[in-house]
Amino acid sequence: MKALVYHGPGQKAWEGVPDPTVIDPTDAVVRMETTTICGTDLHILKGDVPAVTAGRVLGHEGVGVVTEVGPDCSKVKVGDRVIISCVTKCGTCEYCRSGMTSHCQTVGGIGWIFGHLIDGTQAEYVRVPFADNGLIPLPDGVSAEQGTMLSDILPTGFEIGVLYGAVKKGDVVAVVGVGPVGLAAVMTASAQGASKVIAVDGNKFRLEQSRDFGATDTIDVNAGDDVVAKLKELSRDGLGVDVSIEAVGIPATFTLALDSVRPGGHVANVGVHGESVNFPIERDWINNLTITTGLVNATTAPELLERIQRGEIQPEKFITHRFTFDEIDAAYETFSNAADEHALKVIISRA
Ligand SMILES: NC(=O)c1ccc[n+]([C@@H]2O[C@H](COP(=O)([O-])OP(=O)(O)OC[C@H]3O[C@@H](n4cnc5c(N)ncnc54)[C@H](O)[C@@H]3O)[C@@H](O)[C@H]2O)c1
Ligand SMILES: [Zn+2]
Ligand SMILES: [Zn+2]
Repeated sequence: MKALVYHGPGQKAWEGVPDPTVIDPTDAVVRMETTTICGTDLHILKGDVPAVTAGRVLGHEGVGVVTEVGPDCSKVKVGDRVIISCVTKCGTCEYCRSGMTSHCQTVGGIGWIFGHLIDGTQAEYVRVPFADNGLIPLPDGVSAEQGTMLSDILPTGFEIGVLYGAVKKGDVVAVVGVGPVGLAAVMTASAQGASKVIAVDGNKFRLEQSRDFGATDTIDVNAGDDVVAKLKELSRDGLGVDVSIEAVGIPATFTLALDSVRPGGHVANVGVHGESVNFPIERDWINNLTITTGLVNATTAPELLERIQRGEIQPEKFITHRFTFDEIDAAYETFSNAADEHALKVIISRA
């Protein structure tokens, strides 16, 4: 088969590799129909994730059809059309049983292993460990493209942004950074009953797009205004937003999220950070804040799938570009220049 193979920083190739097969009895093999690229794949290609070694097939999102199952698979069957969760989970360790599958101890302590510690989904076929837990049947009426948004980004924005931020009806929510993950938070915060969802970014295209995902207000960080003051003005009583969701991953945006939240509020950090941030404990010890962090568990995908079926959320809005497998280099090119290309998620499908 062909797959996108990582060959060290800055190097990748769509090339022939051996077909994956069932190794453990709980494995399945899936013939990929549709996959996509995540910001994390770009980090890997820059060499920022040293655990990814040369020869690894990239990708952790997608939809396909099961072609082979191990003898211990009891739910998934050959022929099932499935969404592949970005998190692999044994289902029996203490973390899995408590719902924090992102720290499944059986797969090494971090549930994100596709395109990281094992071969991933940017391929014609992929081996899926613990297939009964990691594959979600794709119902009729939900497209492969919609389903692909449930592998990672929609659960990430919803779980680590909206649920960890405890967004409730009537809340004023700021989402700092409206890339695909921030937009997933915008979309699901609106569906959760937030009275205002304020998108904060410096990218005009994404700020415009955010309204279509449910943002009621937008703030351009490059407009020269005092962003904290603007967020406080838009809050219920001038004291600050109820929830601020950080979806960028740099110190400036963590600070902005923290500075704009009201006493008793929630700051939900979603961004992946590469350096320390300043936490002014001398100011905030008195503010009864809740600050959360986390890696997506992807356990809400079935619930989000039902919301898609009911028409409450429309994940197809994320898809701005489409490519075939043999155009995957062009897909990476477009996604790497997302700002100029006006790209959100790029879909890569079997021709
Ligand atoms: N916690 C998790 O499980 C998890 C899962 C997936 C992704 N992530 C992380 O979430 C973050 C967002 O992912 P994404 O794919 O949407 O990334 P992205 O790069 O597409 O989007 C980031 C957005 O932030 C904006 N931005 C940059 N600097 C800014 C600033 N100073 N103020 C306001 N906005 C600014 C950019 O214009 C862009 O629109 C990344 O850090 C990613 O690694 C976390
Ligand atoms: Zn991802
Ligand atoms: Zn586990």
